[in-house]
Amino acid sequence: MDSSMIDSVLSKSTYTRNESAEVVAELSRILSPDSDLTHNQLLAKKTTLRVGGPADCFVKPASESDLCKTVAFCLNNRIPWTVIGRGSNLLIRDGGIAGVVIQLSKPNFQYIHVSSDNPLHLICGAGARLKNIANFARDASLAGFEFLEGIPGVLGGALRMNAGAMGSEIFNLVHSVRVLQPNTEIVDLSVDQISYRYRSCAMLSRGIAVGATLAGVAGSRDDIEEKMKSSNAKRWSSQPTAPSAGCTFKNPDTIPAGKLIDQLGLKGLAVGDASVSDVHGNFIINNGGASASEFLNLIEKIRSSARLNHGIELETEIQIIGEPQ
Ligand code: EPU
Repeated sequence: MDSSMIDSVLSKSTYTRNESAEVVAELSRILSPDSDLTHNQLLAKKTTLRVGGPADCFVKPASESDLCKTVAFCLNNRIPWTVIGRGSNLLIRDGGIAGVVIQLSKPNFQYIHVSSDNPLHLICGAGARLKNIANFARDASLAGFEFLEGIPGVLGGALRMNAGAMGSEIFNLVHSVRVLQPNTEIVDLSVDQISYRYRSCAMLSRGIAVGATLAGVAGSRDDIEEKMKSSNAKRWSSQPTAPSAGCTFKNPDTIPAGKLIDQLGLKGLAVGDASVSDVHGNFIINNGGASASEFLNLIEKIRSSARLNHGIELETEIQIIGEPQ
């Protein structure tokens, strides 16, 4: 079954949100007791932007086997499912997410180790924090991973988004990705079998990355440490520390989105508790109690100003998912 067939199966879904307690009960019979299941999990706590309504059924599978069982159960019962990483690039609408939300954050998905076949390769789980991968690589004197230090996500989300910073992106490091394919088989795909571009890897919108082998180059620990410190300093001086989902828009070809928003005079523009950061124009921040609809409203105001004043159609980089309230 390929992803278009899955979309077709899910388009015929008859799932309604009032069946969610039964879905949780059924999954708890199928999965091992080490997997975590929560009914009506509030997702605001699972995102760095701190907004979003509840997930009907929130699953943290304990193993690849439980992950496969979860997806197979959803497919067989035509229940929609969504995978989230650390929620650092997500804007979840106030109505939350219908169906099953899966997060690969249990210890079995957080592994990071040096390959026994190649000392320049790190084998990492989708739930490994990028910061931990950067620190591990530094301690193993492996260069190339320094830019990951400041990205507040996990590997799975970074692969899905081809996350980047400091002139590099995750697919510059990828040797292979371990993917749960839409037919619920897990395969290792080499990087030349995967297409990706700036801030996107489309095959991972339905396929689920469960891990990856990342290739570095031999380096000196001191040089790596120095590079990590300088990227950290650059980030602290140019990006806000308030809750955000990172850059809101992809950079258009002609001008960085942050520079454009700055030039449009939109820094500080607010809708309720959501506002454009005064530090960096491409960050929108939560000043405390913002709702998703306030963020969506603010995003539309920015897009409309860019369109009216410069004819530029800004495309969101953050992923906007879930149901309206
Ligand atoms: N700029 C302004 N005003 C602003 C913000 C930026 O004039 O308010 C100017 C800067 O002075 C610079 C240019 O715009 O000349 C680009 O800014 P910056 O160096 O901050 O980089 P960016 O293109 O805005 C990209 C990534 C970031 C990544 C940084 C650092 C995208 C959409 N953004 O930002 O990634 O951290 O480079 O490497 O590609 C993310 O993906 O979530 C993200 C934050």
